[in-house]
Amino acid sequence: MLSITGLALVASFVSSDVALAQSTTLESTTLDGIYSRAQAQRGSRTYRNICAHCHEGGEPDADPLFGADFIDRWREAPLSFLHGFFSREMPGDEPGTLTPQVYIDTLAFLLQENGYPAGAELKEETLGDILLVGEDGPQPLPADAMVRVVGCLAGEGEALVLEQASAPTRLRRADAPSAEELAQAKTQALGEATYTLRGNLAQQSSLSAGAKVQVQGVWLPAGASVALTVLSLDDVGQGCN
Ligand code: HEC
Repeated sequence: MLSITGLALVASFVSSDVALAQSTTLESTTLDGIYSRAQAQRGSRTYRNICAHCHEGGEPDADPLFGADFIDRWREAPLSFLHGFFSREMPGDEPGTLTPQVYIDTLAFLLQENGYPAGAELKEETLGDILLVGEDGPQPLPADAMVRVVGCLAGEGEALVLEQASAPTRLRRADAPSAEELAQAKTQALGEATYTLRGNLAQQSSLSAGAKVQVQGVWLPAGASVALTVLSLDDVGQGCN
């Protein structure tokens, strides 16, 4: 899951990541009947003909696309996060080669097989507005989710804290952030969260308290507070005070 791939890929993640930052305020969820039976029916053929062979045992790294573990990797994020990943990277042996309609239909099928109710037609333009949730509706992020946040660095040495931090954006991988992504982080709004930063922070001692930073890390809730094990920390300039 932590595998590093090409940087070109990171850049293509940027647009969907931006939507993720607003995920907690999205209006509809995958429990609201957001795909049609006809779409899922068409998607089932694609799944059977193209996806099943790898995802049902043919490829050791291709996990099953149904069940709680699968949903845990994609929930509390807009549907565009899951769709963006597999429409760029799947089928594993011929990435991105299917038509947009086929990817949407396949997504409808995955929703159906994961137990979500059918309803209105699913459209690509609205994927960023629909929150993917588990069967109990919106929940806290699972522990160990990989996330990106921006915030203001406080504290010193090994006892660093991120204050005025944004809500977390889920990531599929923690590749080094691209220049484009860091440029976006510069203008990204701060928030109200506070996170304790963990990990090998000694090398970050050059960073001064008060800097606006982007952190990629692993989400570790502990009671009412949350720590992030830092995977990368980048100064993105002024904006903190
Ligand atoms: C040639 C084998 C292969 C085929 C065919 C294939 N996949 Fe995959 N798929 C993989 C592998 C390998 C991974 C794990 C990739 C990774 O972790 O980066 C994966 C990962 C995924 C994931 C993320 C799974 C998770 O648990 O987080 C989704 C979603 C997915 N594939 C959807 C599809 C769909 C939809 C199709 C058919 C259109 C498809 N795949 C066809 C090999 C394949």
